[in-house]
Amino acid sequence: MSEGGSSKDVPPARAPRLGRWFLLAGLTSAQALVRPVPSLESPPSEPVGITIEMLDQMARLPGGLGPLPPVPPSADHPPDEAKIELGRRLFFDPRLSRDRVQSCASCHDPRKGFSDGRPRAIGFGGRELARRSPSVLNAAYNNRHFWDGRASTLEQQAEGPLLAAAEMNMSADLLGVRLQAIPSYNRWFQAVFGGSPTLKNAARAIAAFERTLVTPDGPFDAYARGNKDALTVNEKRGLILFIGKAACVQCHNGPTFTDCRFHRLGVSGKTPGPEDVGRYAVSGDNQDRGAFRTPTLRNVSLRAPYMHDGTFGTLEEVVDFYDRGGDVDPQKSPLIFELGLSEQEKSDLIAFLRSLTGQPPFGSTPAPPLEMTTAPAPVPPGMRALGLR
Ligand code: HEC
Ligand code: HEC
Repeated sequence: MSEGGSSKDVPPARAPRLGRWFLLAGLTSAQALVRPVPSLESPPSEPVGITIEMLDQMARLPGGLGPLPPVPPSADHPPDEAKIELGRRLFFDPRLSRDRVQSCASCHDPRKGFSDGRPRAIGFGGRELARRSPSVLNAAYNNRHFWDGRASTLEQQAEGPLLAAAEMNMSADLLGVRLQAIPSYNRWFQAVFGGSPTLKNAARAIAAFERTLVTPDGPFDAYARGNKDALTVNEKRGLILFIGKAACVQCHNGPTFTDCRFHRLGVSGKTPGPEDVGRYAVSGDNQDRGAFRTPTLRNVSLRAPYMHDGTFGTLEEVVDFYDRGGDVDPQKSPLIFELGLSEQEKSDLIAFLRSLTGQPPFGSTPAPPLEMTTAPAPVPPGMRALGLR
């Protein structure tokens, strides 16, 4: 169900009020509500209601914002270091595409926040796809993958691009045959899965690797764990806006800054080609037309341009979009409304978004091609440090 769907019940004019009620309800510190006017020392741009001192005293942040928890384990196959390293080799290997041109990393490039820096991805034969490559960083926390949420596990997701004619254009048979012909892959799959390479096991290894692509140690995480000096004054003001006046936390909530639900912001339609119906293609529910899954905001500064179709080139453009209450679209979510941010507030909000960048994970180093090795390469140092369970 799309949140935008409730637009029938709630007239857009009342939306701002609705948004604020949500926020008040989410506040953990009742104290935060009883001081209506900022004290004299407070900077003028600080929103009414929450001061930096109050923010620093909150034991828990509103909206479930907090440090990244441990990665949820895979349902039916435990990770081990050899499986993860096999997945890393596969992720960076262009032989996984029919024409041996594109690897997963062609569109999920570690140097570009595991996205590709393009408004829309370039697929098989150099043709442009309809959507932007989302980051794979922290995708392990999502229970709905793709912009329309059509896959629910990373294993299921990984088969998508491999088999899609417009992407890697493989078949299960061809993938198996090709990997079996590479002796070291053959040996490695035997060691990890007790059988020769198959699509299913390749997807499992890749998913195990993706579960290590997490970024728990950014300035925001340190702040949320109690180091109150980990964010600057501007970033803290941005956080106050995020949970208050700008109301971003309505949808970007929880430790990953996404509700993993679908909303229509009305950013579609500026790009050439047929209308992207978004979640509607999966649910068949008319209210989901043009709704897309809320993306995580972690590492957002690493992966411009933004939105499912790369409409906005910079975070400044994204914040301007929200500030004006989105563009004209009668069906857009009632949770989007005019914010009336000052220039200082916009820049504080962006400073906060930039504080959501974590340390690059170990798997950011591209893996060397396998065919030259005769035995599984040794597991590189550092894998143990990932703390996988
Ligand atoms: C041609 C570019 C391209 C290639 C190659 C590619 N992807 Fe993607 N990837 C995309 C695009 C575009 C999307 C979003 C598609 C959509 O939402 O319909 C996506 C979505 C994803 C997601 C979903 C993230 C989330 O939670 O929303 C994951 C995970 C992912 N890809 C992993 C992979 C893996 C693993 C491979 C290799 C087997 C791969 N991709 C190959 C372009 C690519
Ligand atoms: C109604 C729910 C909702 C609210 C409120 C909301 N967002 Fe979003 N946000 C989304 C959705 C959904 C998308 C993806 C939309 C698309 O691609 O069409 C998105 C995309 C983004 C992106 C682009 C990320 C990327 O990887 O492309 C940024 C940045 C962002 N939002 C920041 C914010 C900020 C800052 C606020 C507060 C001013 C905010 N959002 C308020 C739901 C919301």
